[in-house]
Amino acid sequence: MLSERNFIYKRMLNMSVSYCEDKKLWILESKNTSYVIGLDEESNLQNVYWGTKLPYVNDYPTVDFKHGHSSFDAREGFTNLEYPAWGGLLYSEPCLKVTFSDNVRNLSLKYVGYEITENAEDISELRIDLIDSLSYKLQVSLYFRVFKELDIIEKYSKVLNKGENPMTIESIQSGNWYLPKDENYRLTYLTGRWSGETQLKQTILTEGKKIIESRRGTTSPHANPWFALDKGNAEEEHGDVWFGALAWSGNWKIAFELSTFGQLKVTGGINDFDFSWNLKPNSSFITPIFTGGYTEKGFGVASRSMHSYQLKHILPKEHANELRKVIYNSWEATYFDVDAKSQRSLAKKAASIGVEVFVIDDGWFGERNSDKAGLGDWNVNKNKFPEGLTPLIETVNNLGMDFGIWVEPEMVNPDSDLYRKHPDWIYYFPGLPRTEARNQLVLNLARTDVKEYIYNFMDNLLGKNNIKFIKWDMNRHFTEPGWPGVAIEDQKEIWVRHTLSLYEIVERLKQKYPGVVFEACSGGGGRVDLGILRRMDECWPSDNTDAFDRLKIQEGFSFAYLPKAMVAWVTDSPNWLNGRALSLIYRFHSAMMGTLGIGGNLNHWSKEEIEIAIKMISLYKEIRPVVQEGNLYRLLSPRTNNITAVEYTDKKGLEILVFAFLHSSQFGELPKAIYLKGLQATALYKVEGSDELISGTALMKRGIYITLKGDFDSKLIRIKKIESI
Ligand code: DGJ
Repeated sequence: MLSERNFIYKRMLNMSVSYCEDKKLWILESKNTSYVIGLDEESNLQNVYWGTKLPYVNDYPTVDFKHGHSSFDAREGFTNLEYPAWGGLLYSEPCLKVTFSDNVRNLSLKYVGYEITENAEDISELRIDLIDSLSYKLQVSLYFRVFKELDIIEKYSKVLNKGENPMTIESIQSGNWYLPKDENYRLTYLTGRWSGETQLKQTILTEGKKIIESRRGTTSPHANPWFALDKGNAEEEHGDVWFGALAWSGNWKIAFELSTFGQLKVTGGINDFDFSWNLKPNSSFITPIFTGGYTEKGFGVASRSMHSYQLKHILPKEHANELRKVIYNSWEATYFDVDAKSQRSLAKKAASIGVEVFVIDDGWFGERNSDKAGLGDWNVNKNKFPEGLTPLIETVNNLGMDFGIWVEPEMVNPDSDLYRKHPDWIYYFPGLPRTEARNQLVLNLARTDVKEYIYNFMDNLLGKNNIKFIKWDMNRHFTEPGWPGVAIEDQKEIWVRHTLSLYEIVERLKQKYPGVVFEACSGGGGRVDLGILRRMDECWPSDNTDAFDRLKIQEGFSFAYLPKAMVAWVTDSPNWLNGRALSLIYRFHSAMMGTLGIGGNLNHWSKEEIEIAIKMISLYKEIRPVVQEGNLYRLLSPRTNNITAVEYTDKKGLEILVFAFLHSSQFGELPKAIYLKGLQATALYKVEGSDELISGTALMKRGIYITLKGDFDSKLIRIKKIESI
């Protein structure tokens, strides 16, 4: 006979995190999805479910009971261990690997307790504690945060040394995500290179491991710590998609491991390559956050959830809800020939077309006349700015604009006063050559004196000048990661300490100067991730400012990150990088899909071009709430179509924008229908340029025809929802 006790039909109250004692399940529920962890009879935590929210508690599976395949394949190879530690019969990627002071390298983590905290707003938290059952006095706490409205969960872990001896952490991951077993999964990920970042790629996963990672000291343009997985059939607006991203700007790794028994495990966190951490008694190590989400509704919803999550919970609070201003950056106009005169004349032009923040780039300090010298000497170059920065800042402010400035604090040129004074402030191995890239070396931010030097010069720069915008650059990756003078067991910590110091410096500066907007740059989009976006307000996605190449870069970016954080400049034509000539309107349209900036040499723009710029910037100011804070729908991808189309709607669905770009055409080709998304079926809409009203269904199913001619033509179509006739 069925009884309520062993067959629970009821939903668990109204909580988004609950523990069901009968079934020994922690159920983490958001609006549409659930993530469920079970406790097995050996006190192991198992992930038993991640997917669509199910109606009844009893619908969720319970833990896998003891079973194995052979003496070679024990239970550990089958069950979805929530936080597997290396030891015993575990052979797959571990979340934790430790060497104890007596050289034992084996862990057996067992459950000891949990705590649920229902927080304000839409966030609930769960902490589950585990200890090493072999009594090595190591405690692991697993933290989960559920964002109810967004179908997003964050996880991270904390390892605490409760013993009397230090221990060495050799690998510590933020956590695992498991997908339903025995499916053919397709991985969508972002890869690239300098000036070709965030390129979207897809591959079917087969048995073994696919790893995306950085071993370069920072996030890198070569891969981005974001992923999406589907069963090979998801599209923009339908299909199961599991997705995730790591909040870490140092060496990172995400491993997709498909076992020969059909188990797909996604393990992510700090890269264990050349890493170790000396965990002293009574101290703890906290991992970066690994965010995950699930939707039944395709890549479009997955991206929009990530965008809303970043807008509400990731971007630094001081500016998250402010619209990003239109910036001018003089890099491509003057390169290292930056001086008071050239910048003043550019500033006047910039103000006249409607720019709101004027940013001077590299070259304003030390003996920085090229990339060969001066990096590290953060005093104003008196030949270029004889009276310092103040007169220029005053000019810029009097023109009604904020002033912004470029810095690259983590680096030094060997030809600099800083390096001559402190040749030991970089990463190096004594007696070995110090490899240069772009004529520069990486400062050792693990050192407290270096960290303080950087904080102090930044504090001085921001404290003495009315600066409202910082572009924080980083133009090379690490080599010879030595830290002479420090105990050998601590040296491999630099990979983590560098990033922690960077975060700390920016946090302290943000706290002291809340009005300053920070832009993350690493030779373009080499440091774009949820870790930097928690501290900096926006990113420079690429040094590639060709408006057509940008379509692919921006599309990839949009899969993982929100348009408000995606800065895009209109630069000169032909483009400096690839020589492609594009109309000014096309260049504007492409750059208006994120946070608009201007990067061309305005002194060379004709009267007509200046007039176009005035019109386009004023148009951008009208539409930027929709672009920066609305919903983004990818209609036609530049990867697969001759036409690229992207739609933005404001959160209320009243204003719709469609950006359309033609690559090239053959004479006689008929226009292609572009089908809109996310509209209200029976609501009426007015398409700019037409007197007819048309239903949401018609716009989505019949589509609109946008006339695009020749090569590289573009249009922005504005559509308004009619609230009452
Ligand atoms: C690389 C950046 O991505 C560019 O925009 C520019 O700031 C240069 N560095 C300056 O050196």
